[in-house]
Amino acid sequence: MDANIALIGFMGTGKTTVGKELAKKLGFTFIDTDEKIEEETGLTIKDIFQKYGEKYFRRLEHNLIKDISRYRRCVISTGGGVVLNIENIKILRQRSIIVCLEAGYQYLLNRLKDTDNRPLLAGENLEERLLRLLKEREKFYKCADIYIKTNNKTVNDLTDEIIKAIERIKI
Ligand code: S3P
Repeated sequence: MDANIALIGFMGTGKTTVGKELAKKLGFTFIDTDEKIEEETGLTIKDIFQKYGEKYFRRLEHNLIKDISRYRRCVISTGGGVVLNIENIKILRQRSIIVCLEAGYQYLLNRLKDTDNRPLLAGENLEERLLRLLKEREKFYKCADIYIKTNNKTVNDLTDEIIKAIERIKI
């Protein structure tokens, strides 16, 4: 298979961890868009948001998506907000199978409650912010080719499930 696999999904669904393992199993190159942006700017995502704001971050994210869209045989773990720009999805779709990792509110709350590197969830009232963002984002995640429920599954199980699902749609 020559296509890329792009992982999308809300913050905390495990895109990076699952993506790394998936790339290993498939012999693909692993790319994490947030990591790449941090490498290229020499700043953390948190610093980029703080110093330049979300709009600026979204521009960097979009430029990177354009850049990596010519690659092949990569697993691309995206940031949770990549879906907000429909152009990003159109570009990814050209060469990637889009896999959405899904998780429920309670599971995400547990995973995200101690996070301090996610600017959109920083500050008070994590529960409220999380609920609001999940609701706002719901419709944006409906652009995937494959949906995988992540709650309480191991990384090994998840990657096997993704590979099987990809094989099914490739037939
Ligand atoms: C964001 C998700 C983050 C990161 C940034 C914005 C979002 O990535 O890109 O903080 O808008 O959902 P993760 O999904 O890897 O946490």
